[in-house]
Amino acid sequence: EDAAEHKGYGKLILFGEHFVVYKKPALVGAVKAATVAEVELSDENTWSRGLIVEDARPAIPGYKDKKAGEMIESTRLVLKHFDLDSDKRGVKVILKGDLAPVSGIGASAANCVSVARALAAALGKDVDEDEINQAAYEGIDNTASTFGGVLRFQRTDGKPLFDKKKLPVEIPIVYASTGITASTTEVVGDVREKREKDAAWYEGLEKEYMEVFDAAEKAIEEGGEGLVKTFAELANRNHEILQKLSVSCKELDDLVETAKSAGALGAKMSGTGRGGLMFAICADEASQEAVAKALEGKAPQVWKTAFQ
Ligand code: MEV
Repeated sequence: EDAAEHKGYGKLILFGEHFVVYKKPALVGAVKAATVAEVELSDENTWSRGLIVEDARPAIPGYKDKKAGEMIESTRLVLKHFDLDSDKRGVKVILKGDLAPVSGIGASAANCVSVARALAAALGKDVDEDEINQAAYEGIDNTASTFGGVLRFQRTDGKPLFDKKKLPVEIPIVYASTGITASTTEVVGDVREKREKDAAWYEGLEKEYMEVFDAAEKAIEEGGEGLVKTFAELANRNHEILQKLSVSCKELDDLVETAKSAGALGAKMSGTGRGGLMFAICADEASQEAVAKALEGKAPQVWKTAFQ
Protein backbone atom coordinates (compact mmCIF):
# COMPACT_ATOMS: atom_id res chain seq x y z
CA GLU A 1 0.00 0.00 0.00
CA ASP A 2 1.17 3.51 -0.87
CA ALA A 3 2.30 5.13 2.37
CA ALA A 4 1.37 8.56 1.00
CA GLU A 5 -2.27 7.51 0.72
CA HIS A 6 -4.03 8.71 3.83
CA LYS A 7 -6.94 6.33 3.89
CA GLY A 8 -10.00 5.96 6.06
CA TYR A 9 -12.12 2.93 5.14
CA GLY A 10 -15.88 2.83 4.94
CA LYS A 11 -17.88 0.23 6.86
CA LEU A 12 -21.13 -1.70 6.72
CA ILE A 13 -22.88 -3.60 9.48
CA LEU A 14 -22.42 -7.24 8.47
CA PHE A 15 -24.62 -8.76 11.17
CA GLY A 16 -26.41 -7.37 14.20
CA GLU A 17 -28.10 -4.02 13.57
CA HIS A 18 -30.91 -3.41 16.08
CA PHE A 19 -30.01 -6.45 18.24
CA VAL A 20 -26.83 -4.55 19.15
CA VAL A 21 -29.05 -1.91 20.85
CA TYR A 22 -29.98 -4.57 23.44
CA LYS A 23 -26.36 -5.55 24.07
CA LYS A 24 -26.10 -8.46 21.67
CA PRO A 25 -22.79 -8.59 19.73
CA ALA A 26 -22.59 -7.36 16.13
CA LEU A 27 -20.02 -7.72 13.35
CA VAL A 28 -19.04 -4.56 11.52
CA GLY A 29 -17.10 -5.02 8.29
CA ALA A 30 -14.66 -2.46 6.87
CA VAL A 31 -14.89 -2.17 3.09
CA LYS A 32 -11.99 -1.57 0.72
CA ALA A 33 -13.55 1.67 -0.55
CA ALA A 34 -11.89 4.54 1.32
CA THR A 35 -11.68 8.29 1.69
CA VAL A 36 -8.21 9.66 1.02
CA ALA A 37 -7.24 13.04 2.49
CA GLU A 38 -4.62 15.54 1.43
CA VAL A 39 -3.64 18.28 3.84
CA GLU A 40 -1.74 21.50 3.15
CA LEU A 41 -0.57 23.71 5.99
CA SER A 42 0.40 27.34 5.55
CA ASP A 43 3.51 28.67 7.31
CA GLU A 44 2.65 30.65 10.44
CA ASN A 45 1.12 33.92 9.27
CA THR A 46 1.59 33.48 5.54
CA TRP A 47 -1.29 32.54 3.22
CA SER A 48 -4.82 32.74 4.38
CA ARG A 49 -5.62 31.52 7.85
CA GLY A 50 -8.66 29.43 8.56
CA LEU A 51 -9.88 26.02 7.53
CA ILE A 52 -10.83 25.09 3.98
CA VAL A 53 -12.31 21.67 3.26
CA GLU A 54 -12.67 20.70 -0.40
CA ASP A 55 -14.91 17.76 -1.09
CA ALA A 56 -13.82 15.78 -4.14
CA ARG A 57 -15.42 12.48 -3.10
CA PRO A 58 -17.90 10.73 -5.42
CA ALA A 59 -21.05 12.86 -5.53
CA ILE A 60 -24.26 11.83 -3.80
CA PRO A 61 -27.22 14.01 -4.78
CA GLY A 62 -28.17 16.30 -1.90
CA TYR A 63 -25.41 15.05 0.39
CA LYS A 64 -22.94 17.93 0.14
CA ASP A 65 -25.36 20.65 1.21
CA LYS A 66 -26.70 18.55 4.06
CA LYS A 67 -23.38 17.42 5.48
CA ALA A 68 -20.95 20.26 4.72
CA GLY A 69 -21.28 21.73 8.23
CA GLU A 70 -20.73 18.37 9.90
CA MET A 71 -17.68 17.75 7.75
CA ILE A 72 -16.08 21.03 8.89
CA GLU A 73 -16.95 20.35 12.53
CA SER A 74 -15.47 16.85 12.54
CA THR A 75 -12.33 18.13 10.78
CA ARG A 76 -11.99 20.78 13.51
CA LEU A 77 -12.04 18.04 16.17
CA VAL A 78 -9.19 16.24 14.42
CA LEU A 79 -7.20 19.53 14.24
CA LYS A 80 -7.81 20.02 17.94
CA HIS A 81 -6.42 16.58 18.70
CA PHE A 82 -3.17 17.70 17.04
CA ASP A 83 -3.23 21.08 18.84
CA LEU A 84 -3.58 22.90 15.55
CA ASP A 85 -5.41 26.22 15.54
CA SER A 86 -6.54 27.08 12.02
CA ASP A 87 -6.96 30.73 13.11
CA LYS A 88 -3.18 30.84 13.45
CA ARG A 89 -2.10 28.50 10.70
CA GLY A 90 -4.10 27.96 7.50
CA VAL A 91 -5.26 24.40 6.90
CA LYS A 92 -6.52 23.16 3.56
CA VAL A 93 -8.01 19.69 3.42
CA ILE A 94 -8.95 17.90 0.20
CA LEU A 95 -11.09 14.79 0.52
CA LYS A 96 -10.85 12.29 -2.34
CA GLY A 97 -11.02 8.54 -2.79
CA ASP A 98 -13.63 6.08 -3.96
CA LEU A 99 -15.90 6.04 -0.91
CA ALA A 100 -19.22 7.71 -1.76
CA PRO A 101 -20.47 9.54 1.34
CA VAL A 102 -23.84 7.82 1.58
CA SER A 103 -25.62 7.51 4.92
CA GLY A 104 -24.72 4.23 6.69
CA ILE A 105 -21.27 3.72 5.17
CA GLY A 106 -19.35 5.50 7.95
CA ALA A 107 -18.28 8.38 5.70
CA SER A 108 -17.78 10.80 8.54
CA ALA A 109 -15.43 8.46 10.41
CA ALA A 110 -13.57 7.73 7.16
CA ASN A 111 -13.03 11.50 6.78
CA CYS A 112 -11.68 11.84 10.28
CA VAL A 113 -9.33 8.88 9.93
CA SER A 114 -7.97 10.01 6.56
CA VAL A 115 -7.56 13.61 7.78
CA ALA A 116 -5.81 12.43 10.95
CA ARG A 117 -3.35 10.41 8.84
CA ALA A 118 -2.72 13.26 6.39
CA LEU A 119 -2.35 15.80 9.18
CA ALA A 120 0.09 13.65 11.13
CA ALA A 121 2.17 13.32 7.94
CA ALA A 122 2.02 17.08 7.21
CA LEU A 123 3.17 17.82 10.76
CA GLY A 124 5.94 15.23 10.47
CA LYS A 125 4.50 13.32 13.43
CA ASP A 126 5.02 9.62 13.75
CA VAL A 127 1.73 8.42 15.18
CA ASP A 128 0.59 4.86 15.63
CA GLU A 129 -2.75 3.36 14.60
CA ASP A 130 -4.23 3.71 18.09
CA GLU A 131 -3.58 7.43 18.06
CA ILE A 132 -5.14 7.81 14.60
CA ASN A 133 -8.15 5.96 15.96
CA GLN A 134 -8.34 8.27 18.99
CA ALA A 135 -7.95 11.42 16.88
CA ALA A 136 -10.91 10.26 14.80
CA TYR A 137 -13.06 9.20 17.71
CA GLU A 138 -16.74 9.08 16.84
CA GLY A 139 -17.97 5.59 17.79
CA ILE A 140 -17.74 2.13 16.20
CA ASP A 141 -17.13 3.46 12.74
CA ASN A 142 -13.73 5.02 13.38
CA THR A 143 -12.25 1.76 14.66
CA ALA A 144 -13.35 -0.12 11.52
CA SER A 145 -12.18 2.84 9.43
CA THR A 146 -8.70 2.87 10.98
CA PHE A 147 -7.91 -0.82 11.34
CA GLY A 148 -9.94 -2.38 8.53
CA GLY A 149 -11.01 -6.02 8.79
CA VAL A 150 -14.02 -7.02 10.86
CA LEU A 151 -14.93 -5.70 14.25
CA ARG A 152 -16.94 -7.53 16.88
CA PHE A 153 -18.81 -4.83 18.75
CA GLN A 154 -20.93 -5.10 21.86
CA ARG A 155 -22.51 -2.47 24.09
CA THR A 156 -22.37 -3.14 27.83
CA ASP A 157 -23.49 -1.23 30.93
CA GLY A 158 -20.05 0.36 30.86
CA LYS A 159 -17.62 0.76 28.01
CA PRO A 160 -18.47 -0.97 24.74
CA LEU A 161 -16.36 -4.02 23.85
CA PHE A 162 -14.35 -4.12 20.63
CA ASP A 163 -12.56 -7.11 19.21
CA LYS A 164 -10.61 -6.83 15.95
CA LYS A 165 -10.78 -9.78 13.60
CA LYS A 166 -9.30 -10.53 10.19
CA LEU A 167 -11.24 -12.23 7.42
CA PRO A 168 -9.37 -15.18 5.88
CA VAL A 169 -10.53 -14.07 2.39
CA GLU A 170 -11.86 -10.92 0.80
CA ILE A 171 -15.60 -10.97 0.21
CA PRO A 172 -16.65 -9.23 -3.03
CA ILE A 173 -19.83 -7.22 -2.53
CA VAL A 174 -22.14 -4.82 -4.26
CA TYR A 175 -23.93 -2.33 -2.05
CA ALA A 176 -26.78 -0.09 -3.02
CA SER A 177 -28.73 2.76 -1.52
CA THR A 178 -32.52 2.89 -1.59
CA GLY A 179 -32.23 6.67 -1.76
CA ILE A 180 -34.42 6.84 1.37
CA THR A 181 -32.93 7.83 4.73
CA ALA A 182 -34.98 6.79 7.76
CA SER A 183 -34.36 8.29 11.19
CA THR A 184 -32.38 5.83 13.34
CA THR A 185 -33.97 7.29 16.49
CA GLU A 186 -37.46 6.69 15.10
CA VAL A 187 -36.83 3.16 13.84
CA VAL A 188 -35.01 2.15 17.05
CA GLY A 189 -37.88 3.71 19.06
CA ASP A 190 -40.45 1.74 17.10
CA VAL A 191 -38.59 -1.54 17.70
CA ARG A 192 -38.41 -0.65 21.41
CA GLU A 193 -42.19 -0.23 21.55
CA LYS A 194 -42.84 -3.53 19.78
CA ARG A 195 -40.36 -5.28 22.06
CA GLU A 196 -42.06 -3.90 25.16
CA LYS A 197 -45.48 -5.00 23.91
CA ASP A 198 -44.41 -8.52 23.00
CA ALA A 199 -41.28 -9.71 24.76
CA ALA A 200 -41.67 -13.35 23.65
CA TRP A 201 -41.82 -12.32 19.98
CA TYR A 202 -38.68 -10.22 20.37
CA GLU A 203 -36.80 -12.92 22.26
CA GLY A 204 -37.58 -15.43 19.53
CA LEU A 205 -36.02 -13.17 16.91
CA GLU A 206 -33.05 -12.42 19.15
CA LYS A 207 -32.44 -16.14 19.57
CA GLU A 208 -32.52 -16.61 15.78
CA TYR A 209 -30.11 -13.70 15.39
CA MET A 210 -27.67 -15.17 17.92
CA GLU A 211 -27.54 -18.39 15.90
CA VAL A 212 -26.53 -16.30 12.90
CA PHE A 213 -23.95 -14.38 14.90
CA ASP A 214 -22.40 -17.49 16.48
CA ALA A 215 -22.16 -19.19 13.08
CA ALA A 216 -20.52 -16.09 11.57
CA GLU A 217 -17.95 -15.88 14.35
CA LYS A 218 -17.21 -19.60 14.04
CA ALA A 219 -16.76 -19.25 10.25
CA ILE A 220 -14.16 -16.51 10.78
CA GLU A 221 -12.30 -18.66 13.30
CA GLU A 222 -12.32 -21.69 11.02
CA GLY A 223 -11.09 -19.60 8.09
CA GLY A 224 -10.89 -20.79 4.48
CA GLU A 225 -12.63 -20.01 1.22
CA GLY A 226 -15.92 -21.47 2.46
CA LEU A 227 -16.42 -18.32 4.47
CA VAL A 228 -17.85 -16.39 1.50
CA LYS A 229 -20.67 -18.90 1.02
CA THR A 230 -21.32 -19.20 4.73
CA PHE A 231 -21.51 -15.42 5.18
CA ALA A 232 -23.88 -15.20 2.19
CA GLU A 233 -26.24 -17.78 3.71
CA LEU A 234 -26.07 -16.02 7.06
CA ALA A 235 -26.77 -12.68 5.36
CA ASN A 236 -29.95 -14.18 3.87
CA ARG A 237 -31.02 -15.48 7.27
CA ASN A 238 -30.22 -12.19 8.98
CA HIS A 239 -32.26 -10.28 6.38
CA GLU A 240 -35.28 -12.51 7.06
CA ILE A 241 -34.96 -11.89 10.79
CA LEU A 242 -34.84 -8.12 10.15
CA GLN A 243 -37.94 -8.42 7.96
CA LYS A 244 -39.74 -10.08 10.87
CA LEU A 245 -38.46 -7.35 13.16
CA SER A 246 -40.24 -4.95 10.75
CA VAL A 247 -37.18 -2.84 9.95
CA SER A 248 -36.85 -3.80 6.30
CA CYS A 249 -39.14 -2.29 3.66
CA LYS A 250 -40.38 -2.96 0.13
CA GLU A 251 -37.50 -1.05 -1.48
CA LEU A 252 -34.86 -3.00 0.48
CA ASP A 253 -36.59 -6.35 -0.11
CA ASP A 254 -36.80 -5.62 -3.85
CA LEU A 255 -33.08 -4.86 -4.03
CA VAL A 256 -32.23 -7.99 -2.02
CA GLU A 257 -34.37 -10.14 -4.36
CA THR A 258 -32.97 -8.45 -7.48
CA ALA A 259 -29.41 -9.16 -6.33
CA LYS A 260 -30.18 -12.80 -5.59
CA SER A 261 -31.94 -13.27 -8.95
CA ALA A 262 -28.86 -11.81 -10.66
CA GLY A 263 -26.69 -14.48 -9.03
CA ALA A 264 -25.62 -13.02 -5.67
CA LEU A 265 -24.89 -15.75 -3.11
CA GLY A 266 -26.73 -13.78 -0.45
CA ALA A 267 -27.96 -10.30 0.43
CA LYS A 268 -29.24 -8.27 3.34
CA MET A 269 -30.14 -4.77 4.42
CA SER A 270 -27.46 -3.02 6.50
CA GLY A 271 -27.92 -0.42 9.22
CA THR A 272 -31.09 1.27 10.42
CA GLY A 273 -33.36 -0.04 7.63
CA ARG A 274 -36.72 1.23 6.29
CA GLY A 275 -34.52 2.71 3.60
CA GLY A 276 -30.76 3.12 3.73
CA LEU A 277 -28.42 0.47 2.38
CA MET A 278 -28.30 -3.19 1.39
CA PHE A 279 -25.35 -5.31 0.30
CA ALA A 280 -25.03 -8.46 -1.79
CA ILE A 281 -22.25 -11.05 -1.44
CA CYS A 282 -20.89 -12.33 -4.76
CA ALA A 283 -18.76 -15.36 -5.65
CA ASP A 284 -16.37 -13.49 -7.96
CA GLU A 285 -15.85 -10.35 -10.05
CA ALA A 286 -18.01 -11.54 -12.95
CA SER A 287 -20.94 -12.16 -10.64
CA GLN A 288 -20.28 -8.84 -8.90
CA GLU A 289 -20.55 -7.12 -12.29
CA ALA A 290 -23.84 -8.87 -13.14
CA VAL A 291 -25.35 -8.07 -9.73
CA ALA A 292 -24.28 -4.42 -9.98
CA LYS A 293 -25.89 -4.17 -13.45
CA ALA A 294 -29.16 -5.62 -12.19
CA LEU A 295 -29.22 -3.32 -9.16
CA GLU A 296 -28.41 -0.25 -11.25
CA GLY A 297 -31.79 -0.65 -12.94
CA LYS A 298 -33.54 -0.34 -9.56
CA ALA A 299 -31.43 1.60 -7.06
CA PRO A 300 -30.38 5.24 -7.35
CA GLN A 301 -26.81 4.42 -6.30
CA VAL A 302 -24.81 1.21 -6.59
CA TRP A 303 -21.16 0.53 -5.73
CA LYS A 304 -18.80 -2.43 -5.98
CA THR A 305 -16.24 -3.10 -3.27
CA ALA A 306 -15.22 -5.90 -0.88
CA PHE A 307 -15.17 -6.72 2.80
CA GLN A 308 -11.46 -6.90 3.56
C1 MEV B 1 -27.68 1.87 12.94
O1 MEV B 1 -26.62 2.04 12.04
C2 MEV B 1 -27.48 0.66 13.80
C3 MEV B 1 -28.60 0.41 14.78
O2 MEV B 1 -28.36 -0.87 15.39
C4 MEV B 1 -28.67 1.47 15.81
C5 MEV B 1 -27.53 1.46 16.79
O3 MEV B 1 -26.94 0.45 17.05
O4 MEV B 1 -27.27 2.55 17.34
C6 MEV B 1 -29.93 0.32 14.06
